[in-house]
Amino acid sequence: MIRLGVNIDHVATLREARKDRVPDPVAAAIAAEMAGADGIVCHLREDRRHIKDKDLYLLREIVKTHLNLEMAATDEMVRIATEVVPDMVTLVPERREEVTTEGGLDVVANHEYLAEAIGNLHNHDIIVSVFIDADIQQIKTAARIGADFVEIHTGAYAHAHALGEAKVNEELEKIRSMAVVASKLRLGVSAGHGLNYQNVRKIVETPQIEELNIGHALIARAVMVGMERAVRDMLEMMR
Ligand code: PXP
Repeated sequence: MIRLGVNIDHVATLREARKDRVPDPVAAAIAAEMAGADGIVCHLREDRRHIKDKDLYLLREIVKTHLNLEMAATDEMVRIATEVVPDMVTLVPERREEVTTEGGLDVVANHEYLAEAIGNLHNHDIIVSVFIDADIQQIKTAARIGADFVEIHTGAYAHAHALGEAKVNEELEKIRSMAVVASKLRLGVSAGHGLNYQNVRKIVETPQIEELNIGHALIARAVMVGMERAVRDMLEMMR
């Protein structure tokens, strides 16, 4: 059955809007797990704009399902990851001025230092995923440098909904064919970015995709109906 990783960054974003102690992303993680989430995802950014180091350490203590840490492949982040030992690290590109992670990681151009980071993380028994665009060279290189998973960027698919059905189907086909390639290369396949209660349906029809990582749409709904109901509604749509 397809798994749901709940990204709780935006709970911390709301907390940081007032530099307060609430809402607490750790409490959100507990509620998400109680509602059936298969994992918790958080992104420790270089500028610590939402999740802080302390959140990450607490999440490691309380997450009972699967903790996936999104991070840039910098020396500082690799050091933190090898101390915290999440179940999975997802390597993502990071630019300070971006509102959210914009494109996939360029694994082809950065294969040397990414291979080194993956090796260091593997030495601590951490499963490594790389967040990439639906592109065959990126996937082949991800396999070659030792990644265990690829997370296929679904942002272009999500944005295509404003451009009509033909564009949606084109983007969907790219994701589907790249999921098949990745799976043939024995990579685990997940997907995420921009997924919501409407566009998730077509994505889950791709059998190679094992896991979806969803943040913004879930937290936006949770503000209205509560975390547990938001997670349950998403699981219902997916399954
Ligand atoms: N996957 C990755 C690698 C991401 O960086 C993000 C955004 O933090 C997500 C999934 C979730 O995207 P969204 O918040 O649009 O659901």
